[in-house]
Amino acid sequence: MSVTDEIKDRLDIVDVVSESVELRRTGRNYTGFCPFHHNVNTPSFVVFPETQTWKCFGECDEGGDVFSFVMKKEGWDFAEALRNLADRAGVVLKPLTPQMQEQQQEGDRLRSLLEEAAAFYHHNLLETPAGKTALEYILGRGLGSETVKAFQLGFAPNSWDASLNHFRQRGFSVKEIRDSGLLSEKEEGRVYDRFRNRLMIPIRDRRGDLAGFGARVLDPEDVPKYLNSPQTALFDKSRLLFGLNTAGKRIRELDQVVIVEGYMGVIGPYQHGFRNIVAQMGTALTEYQLRTLKKYTSKFVIAMDSDAAGQKATLRGLQIAREALDRAPEVVFDARGLLHQESRLKADIRVLTLPPGMDPDDVTRKDPELWGSLVEKAQPVVVHVMDTLARDQDLDDPKVKSALASQVLPLIDDLPDAIERDAYTQRLSRLLEINENTLLKFRPERKRGRRPAVPARISGSPAKPPAGKVVPREGEVYEKHCVGILLREPELVYKVDRALSRDGLARFDEKDFQNADFQILVRYIKDALTQAEEEPRDYIINNLPGEFMDTVDELLEMTEDLNPHSDKVLEDLMRAFLNLRMWQIAKQNDHYRFLQENSHENGDYKTSEYLKNISHYLEEKHKIDKAMKRYTSRTATFDS
Ligand code: UTP
Ligand code: MN
Repeated sequence: MSVTDEIKDRLDIVDVVSESVELRRTGRNYTGFCPFHHNVNTPSFVVFPETQTWKCFGECDEGGDVFSFVMKKEGWDFAEALRNLADRAGVVLKPLTPQMQEQQQEGDRLRSLLEEAAAFYHHNLLETPAGKTALEYILGRGLGSETVKAFQLGFAPNSWDASLNHFRQRGFSVKEIRDSGLLSEKEEGRVYDRFRNRLMIPIRDRRGDLAGFGARVLDPEDVPKYLNSPQTALFDKSRLLFGLNTAGKRIRELDQVVIVEGYMGVIGPYQHGFRNIVAQMGTALTEYQLRTLKKYTSKFVIAMDSDAAGQKATLRGLQIAREALDRAPEVVFDARGLLHQESRLKADIRVLTLPPGMDPDDVTRKDPELWGSLVEKAQPVVVHVMDTLARDQDLDDPKVKSALASQVLPLIDDLPDAIERDAYTQRLSRLLEINENTLLKFRPERKRGRRPAVPARISGSPAKPPAGKVVPREGEVYEKHCVGILLREPELVYKVDRALSRDGLARFDEKDFQNADFQILVRYIKDALTQAEEEPRDYIINNLPGEFMDTVDELLEMTEDLNPHSDKVLEDLMRAFLNLRMWQIAKQNDHYRFLQENSHENGDYKTSEYLKNISHYLEEKHKIDKAMKRYTSRTATFDS
């Protein structure tokens, strides 16, 4: 039994969920209001004790096991969830391999050096005569001692070796001090303090572990104005968000994050009570950063300078945001009555435009109320882009019209709300003076979301429940088999996708799996295929966090005797995968029926919704049946 299984065996998902969601028993299951989206009328969140799974039938349309629940709820990654749940279940995690232990020790050592450094600079600022000017500068900017403490601001002495000597005295080697980014190097290999006579701002990751420093000049003659730690094992600007460790809790409470540029954009507003703010550090927003924030909220407000350069940078960030954030598949009828699937962004992204020449620090210091209203009045991205693009352009020029339309329409398509979509389409049509129908012709060819659509809204037929009674662990057998084979030969994913699309089925996706660690393994398998540096299999082994090694070993052992290149194995894989899908939709069927029965009591789940779900379910089941036939008759062939 893998360690995750053991944890699941010892914990009851109902207990874990009950801690944060009020659950009501309904028959064999439990319902409540979904903690992941705003809902007060319909309890769309269901916990199934028998399978130890959860599912939101509302807006989120997501589900999984106890691991995925706490990951989503707490914003933990798998390793964190594992540590916490293991602790709770009283399961002792296996010690790491010697190599991993060594790596971890090195990391711990660098972090403790950085902690020393932060304490040293902080002490210099508050307790030494040399720090007096720096402290006066800080106080002069309106920051109080609570803020200075919260961010552990510090002062690096005006010396080439004061810091170096201090750290050496504390028992660190020159190599360690250099590796942590605190030194600069001359050509001859001579080293000296990187940060001199600067205001020191510790930069922590979201868990509060130190990663590096940002350092502001105190002498206006010095350059650059801000000097950061160099890229080190711990410091990666494109992954960190300054202030997230202090702001995380507030972001969850307010269900909103404001993203600004620069350290003072976080520290200044903090002083005035605005604490749901994080900053990027001189780089465009990355997908990694957005995914991190998505663990806290799906409401983003991006603060932009009113100048053009700043706007351009931010718009680039937004483009990434659109690509990175999860999309919810939605079935719509188009003008000709045809059914197709669209994907809408599961995030509300707004743009706050700063008054000319002011940054968030200036605004919150001079006029805190103005900040509140700027955040409140932040415009949806569509409107912002529409206005920005239209500014200083000749809107009578047909070329300009078409360029504008093709940039703005995809943003409108992203909006989750149909009424908003209509409103903005109308607005665009007025702006360009093109009637709406003509306008829609400018729509670029519809692209699918990056995460392929899953058969999300399928439901079951009460008349004939497929596959009889659902056996709790049956799905897991299929999950194991699929992941086991794909770990041996990740490229089979392409063949699976091709086979699925031949029968009109959605592509292979991590959401096909219930088990959180399989979901993660599948993500690594897919990532392995999109990179070109290493053989996919090597990529997986080299990048997968250590906690998965046991599971991976087990899976590889299970599939050891299979030759992944034989047709038979592919057939096997397809059968297992189709069985898995069938099992999933059978389970969904049960869930929907359960909701339907339940709604007779409280009348909140619409019958029309239910019927829609049934017809999707039947359609999907039919396709799977048809596909399955290919792999159960002996005449199966594969084109490769
Ligand atoms: P700003 O020059 O706008 O500074 O740079 P600021 O945040 O308003 O700081 P104060 O108020 O003058 O003290 C914005 C951000 O750009 C990055 C930093 O992240 C900074 O916070 N930057 C700026 C650098 O990395 N290096 C620089 O030399 C300048
Ligand atoms: Mn400033």
